[in-house]
Amino acid sequence: MSPTNTAAWLTTEKATSLTVGPAPYTPPSPTQLVVRNRALGINLVDWAMQMMSSALFPWTQYPTILGSDIAGEVVELGSSITRFKPGDRVVATATGLTSGTAQGAFQTYSVVAENLTSPIPASVTYSQAAVLPLAISTAACGLFQKDYLALQHPTVTPKPTGETLLVWGGATSVGCNAIQLAVGAGYEVITTSSPKNFDYVRGLGASAVFDYSSPTVTADILAAFAGKKSAGAIAIGGVDPAVNAAVTKACVDIVAGSEGRKFVAMAVQFDPTQLPEGVGAKFIFGSDLKDNEVGPAVFEHFLPKALEEGVFKCAPEPLEGGHGLESIQEAFELGKKGVSAQKVVVTL
Ligand SMILES: NC(=O)c1ccc[n+]([C@@H]2O[C@H](COP(=O)([O-])OP(=O)(O)OC[C@H]3O[C@@H](n4cnc5c(N)ncnc54)[C@H](OP(=O)(O)O)[C@@H]3O)[C@@H](O)[C@H]2O)c1
Repeated sequence: MSPTNTAAWLTTEKATSLTVGPAPYTPPSPTQLVVRNRALGINLVDWAMQMMSSALFPWTQYPTILGSDIAGEVVELGSSITRFKPGDRVVATATGLTSGTAQGAFQTYSVVAENLTSPIPASVTYSQAAVLPLAISTAACGLFQKDYLALQHPTVTPKPTGETLLVWGGATSVGCNAIQLAVGAGYEVITTSSPKNFDYVRGLGASAVFDYSSPTVTADILAAFAGKKSAGAIAIGGVDPAVNAAVTKACVDIVAGSEGRKFVAMAVQFDPTQLPEGVGAKFIFGSDLKDNEVGPAVFEHFLPKALEEGVFKCAPEPLEGGHGLESIQEAFELGKKGVSAQKVVVTL
């Protein structure tokens, strides 16, 4: 008999609170697993989706199940999967926004793709692991996909490339993961954050960090790139479109004025008409790695060993957002207040 499933549903496009109720239990296809969720990360896109709905993902059918970040234990495996067994502790990127409700995170049992799932060692708690999925996926899409920065893939024994990457927004969830992935791939990383997070982002591997609110930040970073070969930039900002416009412009100006790759992977929206001649840029869709070689490069060939050996940290820090599916709406409100080098996590 199938387990009984429950979800936090977004019942209609205009629903202002999630509704907890029964949900179907969906068995996996040959390349999927079912995970009994134990911790769920809350992303900006989750509460933005509730507020803006079809403006963000116009194809969404309601009722729907939001959420991208899960950590829990494997309960059922697709017929072609050999990398996992029932009971394994895993972290996975749920793709409900593009793949339908069975693959949304905010339920007791989620269906996830094998190529976006990684085992987690006993030393890592479910709450720690749940900060990773969408953030590492988005960072990996921007850094490694061939039509983005196309960086060398990460390993636990990186070979220095001699190139330097700009990660704008090192204390964001995406930024914490971008720094570590780039360092694991052999790149030097220059980043930005508030001064209170300078030590934190250095601890993730950044070699230099600049205050993004300094009036001279662009000139200071350009000076830091002098004599270096740039691998390009990943631009990560926040919620405010005006702030994001400033972030993307700074990144474009820095790659334009540095030697090396003149490309910005954009985690936030940007205006392509403002790109100077010779600079490329592309908006990242954080789940695109499910369809290409980057998914397994990260979730199969890098993250399991990197977590096991402690060379990749679960960052940012989890911020307790409550227990149970009923807590998710309150956790959204906590996320809306803004976080600093933290991600709101709900335990189940
Ligand atoms: N395209 C995609 O697929 C995708 C996927 C996920 C996220 N995103 C986007 O990526 C952005 C970051 O998301 P997230 O979840 O990683 O964010 P988050 O963890 O909520 O980010 C919080 C951090 O933002 C930093 N920050 C705020 N304004 C900044 C600025 N002007 N420059 C640099 N850092 C700034 C703050 O750093 P300090 O505390 O140091 O001040 C804070 O720690 C959002 O805009 C989100 O929508 C896109």
